[in-house]
Amino acid sequence: MASYRIRTFGDPVLKRRAEEVTEINGRVARLAEDMYATMKEARGLGLAAPQVGVGRRLFVYELDDGGPRTIVNPVIDEAQGEWEFEEGCLSVPGLYFRITRPKQVHIKGYDLDGREVSIEADELEARLFQHELDHLDGRLLLELLDDDQRKAAMRELRRRAEGTAGPGAL
Ligand code: NI
Repeated sequence: MASYRIRTFGDPVLKRRAEEVTEINGRVARLAEDMYATMKEARGLGLAAPQVGVGRRLFVYELDDGGPRTIVNPVIDEAQGEWEFEEGCLSVPGLYFRITRPKQVHIKGYDLDGREVSIEADELEARLFQHELDHLDGRLLLELLDDDQRKAAMRELRRRAEGTAGPGAL
């Protein structure tokens, strides 16, 4: 297994809509395996292909009930309720935001064997699916913030960008 560099805020790949996976084959399985390794290394719960620079519609995840999972060409076709959660993203490292989204969703797609997957998800699992779907559509959680949250986030991201060059840097 290899791991990727995780793309962060400002990288254009994070703003593009990813394309459907046309064939679930060994290459896709290897990509998913490497994405999973990358996610574990970063101690995340989910990771979408654009976050490693690949514009394809799949994501990997792992919740406490164990084991790596992949959903290819996911679609959310039902969403209901409201749930507030302190949400973070490996592409916006270290920042967490209180965001309200639907509490329950139904997601469908395919696993790495090409079998159909259909999951009724609630709370954290539902949040994860919505977050990863957003990545596949080129959206970051920053777009869901209210004005005050967004201003604070942008200030912090600017501060960090300035902070990367040290004194005497050329
Ligand atoms: Ni994310």
